[in-house]
Amino acid sequence: MPKRAAGVSLPFLQPDTGGDAPLHRQLYERLREAILSGALAPRSRLPSTRTLSRELGVSRGTVEGAFAQLDAEGFLERRVGSGSVVALPEHARLPRSVAATPGRRNGASIRPGLSRRGQRLSRDVLPPEPRDVQPFTPCLPALDLFPMRLWGRTVAKQARHSGPALMTAGEPAGFRPLREAIAAHLATARGVRCGWRQVLVLSSTQQALDLSARLLLDEGDAVWLEEPGYLGARAAFESAGARVQPVPVDTEGLRVEVGTRRAPGARLAYVTPSHQYPLGVTLSLPRRLALLEWARASSAWVLEDDYDSEFRYATRPLAAIQGLDVAGRVLYAGTFNKVMFPSLRLAFLVVPEVLVDAFTAARAATDGHAPLLSQAAMAHFMEAGHYAAHLRQMRLAYAERRDALLDALRREADGWLRPGAAEAGMHVTAFLTDGKRDEDVVRRADTRRLGARRLSPLYLGRDVAQGLVLGFSGASPAGLRSAVRTLTRLRDD
Ligand SMILES: Cc1ncc(COP(=O)(O)O)c(C=O)c1O
Repeated sequence: MPKRAAGVSLPFLQPDTGGDAPLHRQLYERLREAILSGALAPRSRLPSTRTLSRELGVSRGTVEGAFAQLDAEGFLERRVGSGSVVALPEHARLPRSVAATPGRRNGASIRPGLSRRGQRLSRDVLPPEPRDVQPFTPCLPALDLFPMRLWGRTVAKQARHSGPALMTAGEPAGFRPLREAIAAHLATARGVRCGWRQVLVLSSTQQALDLSARLLLDEGDAVWLEEPGYLGARAAFESAGARVQPVPVDTEGLRVEVGTRRAPGARLAYVTPSHQYPLGVTLSLPRRLALLEWARASSAWVLEDDYDSEFRYATRPLAAIQGLDVAGRVLYAGTFNKVMFPSLRLAFLVVPEVLVDAFTAARAATDGHAPLLSQAAMAHFMEAGHYAAHLRQMRLAYAERRDALLDALRREADGWLRPGAAEAGMHVTAFLTDGKRDEDVVRRADTRRLGARRLSPLYLGRDVAQGLVLGFSGASPAGLRSAVRTLTRLRDD
C-alpha cells in the first residue's frame, strides 16, 4: 500500500523483509536513488523517523541508520526540531534517461520488467559525445593531425597478410602481441610493473570500470570517488549498486585522510592520480603512499585511471601508482581512444596476478573480445615505433594548443574565467569568478556548438564550484582563440 507522510509520497520505500540486504541499507539505497533520480526533489521535506518507521513497519533505529548515512554523505540536511530535507542540489543529479520517464510512478523512477540491477543500469545516461569536432570537447584528440594514411596502411597490411588467423575468434584477454606491446610500453613510459598476461585488452576505460565494479563490488559496498570526479566512473559504480563516497580533492589531489575517516571500510578507491579529472592536479607522493597503505591494510582495491597522463608539458610524465604497489592492490586502466581516435575502441586494464583469470572469464562472459584486426594493427603500430612517435608529436601540438587557450583566456576572459592547473592533459578547468552559473554559460555555448562542459555536475556533495571544463587538444590554436572570443561574446550578450 502506498505510504504517505508529511506531503511526500514514498511508495517505493517499503523494504523487502525477505531480502539479503539489511533493512536500513535497503531504505538508504531507495532514498538515495530517489534523490539522485530527482524523484525526491531538492528541498523536499521527509517524514520524521518516528512517522516513517511506523508507516513502513520497521524499527526507528532502521530509519535512523538510513537517515544518518544520507546525512553524512550530504544527501539530507537534518535540523533538530524541524526534520530532514533533501539537500542534493539540482545540478548534482546524473543526467536521467528519457526512457525512464514513461515508467515513472508517483515520482519514483521505476520501470516495469527491469531487475533492480537493470533499474540502476538504465537510470542514467551519460552525456553523449558529440559527433562533430567542437573546439572545447574535453579529451578529444587532434583528429586533424592523426596520421590516417599510415594507420590505413597498417590496417590494410594486417588484413592482407594475416588471412584467416585474424578472422576466427580471438582470446578474451586480448591478442597476445598487443598485450606484449602494451606491457613493454607501460614499463618504459609509465613505470608500470607487469607481465603481458596481466594486460587485458578492452574496448574502453568504461568497460574497465564496468568489469571492475561487477567483479570487485557487492551491492552496498562503499567506493571512494574523487570530488569532483569522472561521471563515467560514478555511473559504473552506481550501476553495480555500490555506495559512492565523495572524497574531496585539493591541490595535492585526493585527500586520502578524509576518505579514511569517512569510509574506512570502502572496497575500492577510484583515482586519476597523474592528472585529476576534472581539476587537473597531480596526486602528491605522500598521498600516493598513504592511499596504497590504506588499500594494503584494509584489503581494498585502487583503480588507477591513467586516461591522459602521457601528455605532460613541462616535466616528464609521472610514473603510475601501479609501479609503487608492492601489495598487489592496484588495477591500472589506460585507453587508446584518447591518444589515437575515439571510435577505435581499444583500451587496456592491467590487473594483479590474482585477478587475471577472473577478469578473463568475465570478459568472455560479457563481451567476448576486441576486434582482432584492430588489435593486430595497433600491435604493429606500437612495435614499429609509430605510436611513440605519434605521442611525441601530439605532446608538442597539445602544448601549443594549451598555450593558445590559456593566452586567449587571459586576454579575453580575464574578468570572469580563471584557469586551474594546466601542466598536463587534454583539457583545462576554468572557474567562473563572476558569480554566474555554469549551466547558463554552457547553455549559451551550446548554441554555437563550442563543446564546453559544466564543472558543477561533477560534484556529488553540497560544496560545489561553478566552472567550465575546456578541452584544448581537438582544435587548432586559431580555432581555440576564436572559440574563446565567441564564448566571451555570448556571455556579454
Ligand atoms: C577520466 C576519464 N577516464 C576515461 C575516459 C574515457 O576513456 P574511454 O573512452 O576509453 O572510455 C575519459 C574521457 O573522457 C575520462 O575523462
